[in-house]
Amino acid sequence: MSNTAPTASAVIRREDYTPPAFLIDSVALEFDLVPSRTVVKNTMRLRRNPDAASAAPRLELMGEQLEFVSASIDGKPHADAHVTENGLSIGDIPGDAFELSIESICNPAENTTLSGLYVSSGNFFTQCEAEGFRRITYFLDRPDVMSTYTVTLRADKAAYPVLLSNGNLLEEGDLPDGRHFATWEDPFKKPSYLFALVAGKLVCIEERIKSSSGKEKLLQVWVEPQDLDKTRHAMDSLIHSIRWDEKRFGLELDLDRFMIVAVSDFNMGAMENKGLNIFNTKYVLANPETATDIDFSNIEAVVGHEYFHNWTGNRVTCRDWFQLSLKEGLTVFRDQEFSADMAAGDAEGAASAAARATKRIEDVRVLRQMQFAEDAGPMAHPVRPESYVEINNFYTMTVYEKGSEVVRMYQTLFGRDGFRRGMDLYFQRHDGQAVTCDDFRRAMADANKRDLAQYERWYSQAGTPRVTVRASYDAAAKRYTLTLAQGYGETSEAARATQKGPLLIPFSVGLIGSNGADLPLRLEGEQQPGGTTCVLEFTEREQSFTFVDVDEPPLPSLLRNFSAPVIVDFDYTNEQLAFLLANDSDPFNRWEAGQRLATRELLALAARASKGEALAIDDETIAAFARVLDDTTLTPAFRELALMLPSESYLAEQMSVSDPAAVHAARVFMSRQLASRLRDKWLALYEANRTPGEYRPTPEDAGKRGLKNLALAYLSQLDDPRDAVQLAQKQYDDANNMTDRSAALSALLLASATAGASASAADAALEDFYRRFEKEPLVIDKWFALQATQRGGADRKVIDIVRNLMQHPAFNIKNPNRARSLIFSFCSGNPAQFHAVDGSGYAFWAEQVIALDALNPQVAARLARGLEMWRRFTPQLREKMHAALTEVASKVKSRDVREVVEKALAS
Ligand code: TRP
Ligand code: ZN
Repeated sequence: MSNTAPTASAVIRREDYTPPAFLIDSVALEFDLVPSRTVVKNTMRLRRNPDAASAAPRLELMGEQLEFVSASIDGKPHADAHVTENGLSIGDIPGDAFELSIESICNPAENTTLSGLYVSSGNFFTQCEAEGFRRITYFLDRPDVMSTYTVTLRADKAAYPVLLSNGNLLEEGDLPDGRHFATWEDPFKKPSYLFALVAGKLVCIEERIKSSSGKEKLLQVWVEPQDLDKTRHAMDSLIHSIRWDEKRFGLELDLDRFMIVAVSDFNMGAMENKGLNIFNTKYVLANPETATDIDFSNIEAVVGHEYFHNWTGNRVTCRDWFQLSLKEGLTVFRDQEFSADMAAGDAEGAASAAARATKRIEDVRVLRQMQFAEDAGPMAHPVRPESYVEINNFYTMTVYEKGSEVVRMYQTLFGRDGFRRGMDLYFQRHDGQAVTCDDFRRAMADANKRDLAQYERWYSQAGTPRVTVRASYDAAAKRYTLTLAQGYGETSEAARATQKGPLLIPFSVGLIGSNGADLPLRLEGEQQPGGTTCVLEFTEREQSFTFVDVDEPPLPSLLRNFSAPVIVDFDYTNEQLAFLLANDSDPFNRWEAGQRLATRELLALAARASKGEALAIDDETIAAFARVLDDTTLTPAFRELALMLPSESYLAEQMSVSDPAAVHAARVFMSRQLASRLRDKWLALYEANRTPGEYRPTPEDAGKRGLKNLALAYLSQLDDPRDAVQLAQKQYDDANNMTDRSAALSALLLASATAGASASAADAALEDFYRRFEKEPLVIDKWFALQATQRGGADRKVIDIVRNLMQHPAFNIKNPNRARSLIFSFCSGNPAQFHAVDGSGYAFWAEQVIALDALNPQVAARLARGLEMWRRFTPQLREKMHAALTEVASKVKSRDVREVVEKALAS
């Protein structure tokens, strides 16, 4: 098995980086594609690297799971070529430049890891990032070795009519014995992780467009024949992405042809291979019947993300994998900005700000729920990690989402224009190179004539910074002073080891008067007021900022638009939070005030629940939510976000000792209070937000559906849920789109879990849903996920339902989407059931990690992370989690899973 470490796993360290001993200028690959025995001939032009530290005696190529056949140098068979533990070692090297040709064999049919060359639904696909190319041929499989590729594919024509690789098609034609070939050439130098090939029975839609400089481009979206009717949205998203990058960053598509291919067996979301992006079907296929509004917007975001990598990742790539955030953090930032601009459309002023804010809120929610937790646990690492055992474990929330925040802060500091100047300089300096995070920071600093030495700490320190704020008002002098202090609070050992000093934190603030309006801001020393929001550059451990001409004691609006990835501590009263929720001109902070209010209430309830005390909720809190519910000046999308309670996992994370059962009781209690005390309002909201007529996945309609379906979810939790069941049943039957149909199904499940009755309605709908969508794998994934995440109860153990579903004929653990829809949905999407006190969830988790470890280490390692926070839980749970982790540690073989469980156990 690949990635199997017989002994203790080797740690790779950033400080050990050395340039490669050899460079590979060009590669010619020939594939004879046969599922169980593919022959690869690889001819490379190599030369010694003039920048290498010393002349290496041998050439060490990486290779994994390959059968070596032969090697020749400059056309002659070469004897000194030996298979080693990690690849192929070649001696007797003739001079400084030579041509090396290697033949090897691999077995795509048996490749369940989905890394390297593999077969899915009878077609061939590749996945090379991060280190999959070495599973295809022997190579210097590292991103600082950049080459031009020519690729010839040969295969049976009937079974594999379509043959694709990177770049431009040079030639194609027939061969004897019913075979055919195609030769592709990618004119741009690239690292091996961007190589791709696809072969099989696929069809495409295509479009021709002219890029900004007037060149004609061919765009294609390739899928299996039955999915051709689900490609339009991906194509539209691609065209929007191309236009956006031209307009916002002046970046043009550089190839004549750009292809997207969908595959149903895929480890992650999608992959930015040069000119041949390969996607998980989940992020390509959509029509109104099969995909939800969220699916539509995820597709737009991921298509954008992969397209934007063409410049940020491919044209300028990473020197080594420690620099991963150089491309990922930057590209996530670009896709977030793209989605925000698409949501805003032609809107201007406040409407545009509101549309952009909902996207920002969604992104921050993910960051806080997932990345903050990662940063507090045993896998905590800086945006630019210092070491790893398995690089696949470092495609993390920290590298992607916190990395995006670190990029966003340059824009917050320098404005859009300053950020653009930095980007322009970055491409001017580094196009065609493999570079580092420091190179990016220097481009930003130089283009804006700033010293950003301190900013380096955002890349090197792990843990979530905590900013404590104190405020004082001097009525006589009309001065208002904010004193900010920064530190890390309680952090994990992993994080603490990296922490050295204060960060440059762009801290955006506004001051609000008693009438709810923003006050003009003038910092001490400034000549005139500079607007109503200002970005404080907070660089010391503790620092004071004084505003002058402040006529009344203001209420501060802190960290507007979440200007830095930090936690802010400030003693707001409940009344002040309700005031901010009703008045703050910054939509992000309006939402934030509501979340703080709800979190405070929920944590108090959870504390009572864990002591077995009676639960009760403050009228003022209900009233604050009622005001949002009634406020039709707010968009439906915003109201939906504001009326959604923080997730159970986020709340558990906020407790000093996580108690999932108490959190669940608290959240259910508060949901049901909101449901019953605002019942008529929810009903009215439901009616007011219907979207009759043809389905459109626009932000406006999606916002209405979201709010309507949230109302339905609240109503489903009433003691007497008959109204909700009736509405849900009718909505289920009448739906012309998946958003409404799946929301209705989930409402029926919720009603049946809450009131115990009406289980038959839920069961009938589940049954109908399955039959209706039996031939749509992505919808069947939803069917599994809805059941795995459903609310359980004392006599409704979801683990039993999940174990049953594992036996369902449609379940297949080898397909990552299917495994995620059932196993991951239960283990991370249903905390109250997963953390059952009998340990049944943990035993299930251990079984599945062990099973996946033998098939697909990347997917197994993601699941393994589900228990890394074990130390934070109640003693009873902690002990059982520890036992499950120990069990897994004793049985798994992959480097991927070992790194995760060993770090968890050592914490
Ligand atoms: N680079 C890809 C992206 O940003 C993600 C990726 C990394 C990936 N490793 C992968 C995708 C392995 C699939 C499999 O979107
Ligand atoms: Zn990416």
